[in-house]
Amino acid sequence: MTVKTGGNMYTTLKPVLKKAIQMNMAIGAFNAHNLEMTQAIVKAACAEGVPVIIQTSEGTAKFVGMKSFVAVCKSLSVEYGIDVVLHLDHARNWDNIKEAIDAGYSSIMYDGSHLPFKENVLATQHVVEYAHTAGASVEGELGTIGGTEDGIAVDPDAVEFTKPADAVKFVELTDVDALAVGIGTNHGQYKSKTKLRFDVLQAIHEAVDIPLVVHGGTGVSDEDIHKVINGGIRKFNVGTELLVNWNKISADLYSTNKENTSTRNNVIPALEAIQKIVQGKIELFKNL
Ligand code: 13P
Repeated sequence: MTVKTGGNMYTTLKPVLKKAIQMNMAIGAFNAHNLEMTQAIVKAACAEGVPVIIQTSEGTAKFVGMKSFVAVCKSLSVEYGIDVVLHLDHARNWDNIKEAIDAGYSSIMYDGSHLPFKENVLATQHVVEYAHTAGASVEGELGTIGGTEDGIAVDPDAVEFTKPADAVKFVELTDVDALAVGIGTNHGQYKSKTKLRFDVLQAIHEAVDIPLVVHGGTGVSDEDIHKVINGGIRKFNVGTELLVNWNKISADLYSTNKENTSTRNNVIPALEAIQKIVQGKIELFKNL
C-alpha cells in the first residue's frame, strides 16, 4: 500500500518528520556506504511511496565525496519522484560538518552524547547556528546508544538513558529539529533483539514536543517498531542489517563468479536484497 507523503524534492528533516507526526508513522533513515546502496534505498522508498532519509557516516561521506553524494541524492529525488534527505550521521568533527553543509548536505546529526551536558549544548548550538543559516536541519543526541558503529564503540558501562528533564532543557537551548534518545538500543546489534525502555521513551515524549529518533534500529523487533512509533519515534535508523546482507551476498558472488565478470554481477543481487529489506522496514514504519 502506498502512503502519499512524498514530493520529489531534495529536502531537510523538518517537512518529512512533520508529515510523519501527522500520520503517526516514522521515516526510515538508512545508512548507505556507497552510491549503489543509495540508489537501492531510494528505489525502495519510491516503491513504497514515502520520503526517505539517506544517511552517511563522516567516513563514507569522505570516501564518496560530499559534493558527489549531494548531486546523486538531488538527482535521485527527481528521477524517483520522492522526497530525499541527505543526512550526515553521528558527526563530531567540525571541519567535516562545515564541509558537508557547504557541499549541500541537507541535514546533520551532531553527536555530542560523549560530552558533559553543558558542552554538548554549546557544541550543538554552534552546529545548529551554521546549519540553520544554510537551510539544513540538525538532529542532536542526549543519552547514549550502546554498541559499535563505523569503528566507534560505546563503553557498555557508560550507556545512559535520556533524562526527560535534560531533554526539555536541551531542546530549548539548542533548537534542534530532532532528538536521538537513549532508550536501550545498541548500534550494530544484528544477532538478537534488544530490550527497550518504553517507560523512558514515554516520559521523554510527554516532556518534549519534538520528533524523536531511534538509533540501532537493526536490533529492534518488528513488534517494538510499532510500539516506539506510537511512543513518538519519527526517524528510525537502520544500518547494520543492510550492510551485513550486502557483505554476505556479494562476498559469495565475488568468490564464485569469473574474475573477468562485470563487477555489477557481484553486487546486483545484494542490492536487490537491500531494496527488499528496506521495503519491509518501510511497511512497518507506516504503522498501519
Ligand atoms: P544499526 O546499524 O544498528 O541498524 O543502527 C543504525 C544507526 O543507528 C545509524 O546511526
